[in-house]
Amino acid sequence: MHKIMVARNRFILLLVVGALLAVLSLSLQFLHLIPTTPLKEVQQHAKSRRITVPIPYTEPPVLDPIYEAYAYCNIPNRTEHSWEGHSPPDYKLLSVQVMIRHGDRYPLYSIPKTKRPAIDCTLVPNRKPSHPRLAAFISHMSKAERGQWDSAMSAIPRLPSHTVCEMGELTQTGIVQHLHNGQLLHDTYIKKHKLLPNNWGSKHLYIESTRKSRTLQSGLALLYGLLPEFDWQKVNVRHQWSTIFCSGSCDCPMRNHYLEEEQRRQYNLRVKNTLLEQTYMEMAKIVGVPTRQLRAANPIDSLLCHFCHNITFPCTQNGCISLKHFSVIKAQQLEDKKDRHEKKLYYKYSLLATHPFLNQTIARMQRIAQGRKDELFALFSAHDVTVAPLLSALGLSEARFPRFAARITFELWKGAKDKNDLYVRILYNGEDVTFFTSFCQTHSRHSGPGLCPFKKFLNFVRRDMFAIFNSTNYFDACHRRIL
Ligand SMILES: *[C@@H]1O[C@H](CO)[C@@H](O)[C@H](O)[C@H]1NC(C)=O
Ligand SMILES: *[C@@H]1O[C@H](CO)[C@@H](O)[C@H](O)[C@H]1NC(C)=O
Ligand SMILES: *[C@@H]1O[C@H](CO)[C@@H](O)[C@H](O)[C@H]1NC(C)=O
Ligand SMILES: *[C@@H]1O[C@H](CO)[C@@H](O)[C@H](O)[C@H]1NC(C)=O
Repeated sequence: MHKIMVARNRFILLLVVGALLAVLSLSLQFLHLIPTTPLKEVQQHAKSRRITVPIPYTEPPVLDPIYEAYAYCNIPNRTEHSWEGHSPPDYKLLSVQVMIRHGDRYPLYSIPKTKRPAIDCTLVPNRKPSHPRLAAFISHMSKAERGQWDSAMSAIPRLPSHTVCEMGELTQTGIVQHLHNGQLLHDTYIKKHKLLPNNWGSKHLYIESTRKSRTLQSGLALLYGLLPEFDWQKVNVRHQWSTIFCSGSCDCPMRNHYLEEEQRRQYNLRVKNTLLEQTYMEMAKIVGVPTRQLRAANPIDSLLCHFCHNITFPCTQNGCISLKHFSVIKAQQLEDKKDRHEKKLYYKYSLLATHPFLNQTIARMQRIAQGRKDELFALFSAHDVTVAPLLSALGLSEARFPRFAARITFELWKGAKDKNDLYVRILYNGEDVTFFTSFCQTHSRHSGPGLCPFKKFLNFVRRDMFAIFNSTNYFDACHRRIL
């Protein structure tokens, strides 16, 4: 008995020392006492390359939870390069479709018995972070009544407005992120490539958003960056009720099956992590609620908001929630991502979840390739639970979890040969990831124009994405029972 206790105590001591060392190294990086992988270096490196070569989008080989957390915040304090609209000369841009995640938002959950982070969700152009177009954007939104609105969308506020943010409300940071993204897209698609005719009308745009104020407002901010002072009468924002954007093709029992399996996997991995369990216990003690209740309140969501807004973590008379607690939870999320990739359940869920959206994406591309001039620019304003499966289904398993204001861009290009000389490019947060997708990985970017033949994308969505289910189509894959 005594021996076992000693062994166990020694084990716990080892764990604690290990954790302390890990946290110490993290804190040193946090305080910039030891260097982290600098983003700037990657960007400078990329600048000197030729434009058709995608820049690597997986920087540090060992994932650092604090570095990852900053990437997630997407604090708009630097100019980021974007590779949208880059192509060899003589290629013509035919259409662009963009799926975005909403910008920075107030937490969806609060940590029990602590003060919620004090963030002002009103928009004030001379408060940081700001954008040169913020004031004009605010004034333009006040004329939104002139637009056409699906009845489901008409009652949603066009701007965040609470001096103490409501749960889930978009912040000024979130608006600025999307004004910035819209401006990047304006410079390349509108100014350089003239994607829209000068007298563009409502048929040239397609806009869809879920019925949350943060997605609608994010979409409008991006649109304003893209088309400053746009005519409201040419804008019609459609309502998408499904968070996976499956529109009329949502019936898919096997999708639900894989999601349940995935949730079981996630749970099993989490309970094996003793350091994580210990951390939740410590935090629960500080806050003064049962561990179960604290875990249910999803504290990382709220802590990320503190972190991204440089607000100190909550304290009580029992102590403070610390960067150490935060790092342990964040590190577990990274561990989870690795396990998720290995087990492939989420991948299977994602293929079935995103087929309807991808099917519409290729259909829209085909219509345009055939000469229709409708919906040249399409915007889908969505959530992390929309963007993450899309990345997974495309085979971009190394891509980061969608940060605030993340975007996936699909470009359709036409070559000089004939009308079937078509190509796609796919970008994630402005980085060209075309040749990391599962359907274009084997296509040598050196043999062709540095673009992926449209046919490959088409075959993937029509047929090949169901191969893992021993199936050739969506209906069959969705309804096939596993024996
Ligand atoms: C932007 O802010 C992050 C987090 O505060 C910081 O790590 C980074 O160095 C900043 N970048 C610039 C260019 O100021
Ligand atoms: C974060 O807040 C601390 C004080 O609470 C301040 O010293 C520091 O400059 C702030 N950092 C940023 C990036 O705003
Ligand atoms: C895919 O799109 C085609 C038309 O482009 C449509 O006929 C078909 O029903 C769609 N399939 C699914 C599963 O959405
Ligand atoms: C597909 O078929 C292979 C071989 O017949 C089998 O091992 C695999 O389990 C099947 N997969 C599914 C999802 O049915």
